[in-house]
Amino acid sequence: MQIHYVGENNSILNKFIAEIRDQKIQKDSLRFRRNIERIGEVLGYELSKKLSYKLVDIQTPLGVSKESLMSNSIVLCSILRAGLPLHQGLLNYFDDVENAFISAYRHHPNNDDAFEIVVEYFASPEIQDKTLVLADPMLATGQSLTTVFEAIKKTGTPKEIHIIAVIGAKSGIEFIKNKFPKNTHLWIAAIDDELNEKGYIVPGLGDAGDLAFGEKL
Ligand code: URA
Repeated sequence: MQIHYVGENNSILNKFIAEIRDQKIQKDSLRFRRNIERIGEVLGYELSKKLSYKLVDIQTPLGVSKESLMSNSIVLCSILRAGLPLHQGLLNYFDDVENAFISAYRHHPNNDDAFEIVVEYFASPEIQDKTLVLADPMLATGQSLTTVFEAIKKTGTPKEIHIIAVIGAKSGIEFIKNKFPKNTHLWIAAIDDELNEKGYIVPGLGDAGDLAFGEKL
């Protein structure tokens, strides 16, 4: 797996990351969602540099211009529900791709900190020989991503995989390294050192789904 730590160098991305982490600013859920979207746009732009392109003749009012346009068949798959604003950010740029949505939630069978990932909702086109873009804003333990990948693999083997994450924990990144094939790229905006006992990223930002859409039962 190739890791592209997009937030490693200073850019406008720093502001979006700072705002989603800031406990005062993140209370504005509209701004929180829009910042996650903006991060999706930045990461999507970076990932677009690794895709395949072919020359296409474009007729202008004055002549023909040869434009190099993306030739990949992309399936953009997001993990519900926290992935929705990130999905929208990617879709703002990759506006004509196919889409997949898979739910993954942490089920605590013993009402303690231990959890298993449960997939309930699954809607995906076939992914055989396509470019799979897998969006999950918080790469914490890495279990949601691997569970969702196992689920979507039933629809085919992708040509290549691009994982898009906003904040990842070092241990979660280590965990997914061995679970995804070699032709996988990780595009990530921020990498944090720790996970707490509940599997939350520290310093992280809290619960991305709750911040975007409100608390759940
Ligand atoms: N999901 C979140 O929303 N936040 C975390 O820190 C980890 C998982």
